[in-house]
Order: sequence, then structure tokens, then C-alpha cells
Amino acid sequence: MNDQPIEVVILAAGLGTRMKSETIKILHRAAGRPIVDYVLDLACRFTSEKPILVVGHQRDAVREHCGSRARYVEQDKQLGTGHALLQAAALLEGNRPSTVLVLSGDVPLTREATIRTLIEEHRAKQNSVTLLSMIPAEPALYGRVVRGENRELRSIVEAKDASADELTISEVNAGIYAFETSELFEALRSISTNNAAAEYYLPDVIPHLRQKGRNVGAVLITDPMEALGVNSRSELAAVEQELIRRRIADLMREGVTFRNPSAVSVDSTVEIGPDTVIYPFVILEGNTKIGSRCVIEAGVHLKNVTVEDDVTLRTGSVADEATIQTHATVGPYAHLRPGTILGRSVKIGNFVETKKAVFREGAKASHLSYIGDAEVGAEANIGAGTITCNYDGVNKHKTTIGAGAFIGSDSQLVAPVTIGSGAYVGAGSTITKDVPADSLALSRIPQRVVADWAAKRRSEIQKTQPETNEDGGKPKA
Ligand code: UD1
Ligand code: CA
Repeated sequence: MNDQPIEVVILAAGLGTRMKSETIKILHRAAGRPIVDYVLDLACRFTSEKPILVVGHQRDAVREHCGSRARYVEQDKQLGTGHALLQAAALLEGNRPSTVLVLSGDVPLTREATIRTLIEEHRAKQNSVTLLSMIPAEPALYGRVVRGENRELRSIVEAKDASADELTISEVNAGIYAFETSELFEALRSISTNNAAAEYYLPDVIPHLRQKGRNVGAVLITDPMEALGVNSRSELAAVEQELIRRRIADLMREGVTFRNPSAVSVDSTVEIGPDTVIYPFVILEGNTKIGSRCVIEAGVHLKNVTVEDDVTLRTGSVADEATIQTHATVGPYAHLRPGTILGRSVKIGNFVETKKAVFREGAKASHLSYIGDAEVGAEANIGAGTITCNYDGVNKHKTTIGAGAFIGSDSQLVAPVTIGSGAYVGAGSTITKDVPADSLALSRIPQRVVADWAAKRRSEIQKTQPETNEDGGKPKA
């Protein structure tokens, strides 16, 4: 039995009405991934075959999401967990005997080590079925584990069917099982719907197998969190919190500093290198990768961003689909939009917005700018308030700024336009034509000075104003 193959079946046909959602619960996201992804990952650690997903509600959406990571069987009507597992007979029955691990698509926190213990116990005791049980703070709607005089497992009684005495049992069924295919399907065909829910209850195979003299058992897990299912939004939030907590704990083990880990949100897909420091209120999402020795200050929000080593992202900066190369500094309060690439040692300062903009090594835009659809050469300096006017109301156009160019403050670069390398643009210019390399472009009205103008104006105003009395009130009539 120990060298038998392991098959995994994931029950996932239920809609999850308590989520009050148009989306099936297993496709709701927690820490960056639909919860079924965590279950599929876990399944793949135990089987060389593809896991079998029992699908029903929104089967097309589930198939589309899980794709070739799983095999599928359909359960047209949701007649209960026993009926759901029976659908896997189409793929498993008649094959070489195997051990079947049964997981729920909505229970994403089970640890690999816990499942290993389940399977080891199942095999060591030569059981026909072994389940995971737990003692949660509140046994609530879970099925109660009924044990006999010698603590042997007798049956599972669903809360709906339980007597007042049975409801006081604190040990409950976690809904994760190991079975032997040689006996499973025959047992599933023998159970009935004679219960409060009028459903085929999967755990009802336990008394059936006992009657046939088979061994059955339960393994108590110590951390009930591992069996937490997502049936409601508050359980979804609890699962997400736990996934974030686990990811941050892993990252700390790998050498990342979190100044206040409970105030940071990190998707399970995020990677961070050692000696990077993460301040409170940081949100890291999607395929964000951060290198080593970076400083990520408070309120930074990154989604699918690649950050190389030794980068500083200062307070309140937001980036989406951007790449930030080594030794760059960004912010505070900068906004890097999709297609932004910051080269080595680039500096983007406060209130600068970039979009589809490539900054080559050492380029700077330190204050109050919009740089979109642009290429900025190495060491170019973009003055405060510079705007690339990339949109003419119909089309987007490109601005090219050469290496070492200097763009004076408050300039507008009306695209398409090229500023040659080493060229200067005088402050306050509106540039509509290409500027050749190493030249100066200036497009502002020459300054005029009118001597004494202000002093004269003040004295004229004084003459026309009515006199006020000493206490500053209106003159008396
Ligand atoms: C089940 C167990 C209960 C256990 C609890 C642990 C039964 C009868 N009860 O109850 O003892 O304490 O899990 O979480 O098994 N599903 C289908 N088709 C169906 C019905 C369900 O695919 O016809 C799927 C659901 O999508 C879900 C899983 O099976 O992924 C569990 O079903 P659910 O209705 O959540 O069972 P519980 O009432 O939680
Ligand atoms: Ca459930």
C-alpha cells in the first residue's frame, strides 16, 4: 500500500451562496491569487498525476482559470459531498489501486506537512479512510467527530443532524480525507440521503466501512487555521490575513526587515531580497519583485513592479507595471505608471508622474513633472514642472530627450519632438520644434521692466479710497 500512487480530488462544485457574489467562491482572490490556486499547488506536491477538480457551478470559469493544471469531472446537481466525490469514479475506478487525497477547493491554508502526517498515519494503520479533525474555538456548523469507548472513530454527525449531546463535541471534521480507491466508490454508492439536508454526505462512508471490518481513523491537527474554509467574506478576509502573515514570516526568515509587519500587505506572489527594509503601510501586489538592500518607505504601493538592488522608494510613491533599476531613488509621492523604466541611479522626485517613459542611467526629474511617452537620455536633467505634451486630443506622440540635455523649469515639450543630446531648453519655454544637439532653445516673451510702476499704482489707489476714522470703522454720516 505504501508504494501506491496518490491521486488528489478537489471538491469545487458548490457556489458559495454566503459569499453573496456573482463569482464562485474558489475564484475569489486572497493575497493575490484565487483561493483554488493554493489548493492546486498543495495537491501537486502529493501526486504526479494532475489533480481532479469536481466542477459544477461556473464550471467554464473554473476550467478557464485552472486550465491544464487539473483534470475535470462534472457534478451537474450539487447533491452533496459524497455525490461530488463519486463523480471522480469516471477517472479513477478500474485503474490500478491508489490512495485518494480529498481536498476542498475552498480550504487554502492546509500545510504540506499536515497532509504528509495524514497520509503516513493512513498507511501505517492500513486504514480505508483517515480524516483530519480539529478543535476550533467554535465548533459551529462543522461535522462533529463521534468516538467510541476506546476513542476509536465511529462516525461524523453533521451539525444539522446532531443531538444536543453531540453538539457539545468539540472535535470536528476538517473535511480533508485519505481513502483507498479499492473500497471508496463501492462505499460511496451505498450511502443515502436520509438526513436533514437530504444530501449524500461523504463522511457517511465511515460507518459503512467500519461495518465491513475496515480500519478508519482521524488525525487531530493542532492549528485549526489550516482547515479554515472560505464560505463568507469575513472568512475570506481571515484567510487573506493568514496568507499575508505567512508570506511576511517567510520573507523575514530570508532576511527582509519589516518595521511593523502587521501593518504591511504582501501578496503571496511577491519576492523581496535580503537586507531590504519595509516600512509600515506598504502594499506589494502581483508579480512584484524587490531586490536586496532596498528601502521601501511608508505608504508605497507597488503592483507588478520589478525593483532591482539598492533602490530607495520614498513615502507615498505608487508604481504599476514599472521597472526600477539599481541605485535609483523615487518619491516621495511619485507616480510611475505602466511602461516606466528607470535606469541605474535615476532620480524621480516628488509629484512626478511617468508613463511609458524610459529614463537612462543617471537621468533626473526631481520635482512636479509629467513625463509620458518619452525617452530620456543618460544624465539628462528635467527641471521642475516640465510637461511632455504627449496627447493632441486624438493621438499620443513621443518625446525624445538626448543624453545630458537640460530642460529648464516649467517647460512644455509638445510631442512629437526631439531635444538633441547636450542641448538646453530655457526655463518656461514651450518647445514645438526639434532642438539640435548642444544648442539652446528658448521660446519665452522677453521680460519688460516698467520703473516705479508699482509705487505709482499704490498712490493712485490711496487717492480714490474714502478716508477711514481712527478705529478703522466706516466714516460717520
Ligand atoms: C463539510 C463536511 C463537514 C465538515 C466540513 C469541513 C459533509 C457532509 N460535511 O461540510 O463534516 O466539518 O465540510 O469544512 O461533507 N461540494 C461539491 N458538491 C456538492 C457539495 C459540496 O462539490 O454537492 C464541495 C463544495 O464546493 C466545497 C466542499 O465540497 O468545496 C465542501 O462542501 P460544503 O458544502 O462547504 O460542506 P460543509 O457544509 O462545509
Ligand atoms: Ca465548507
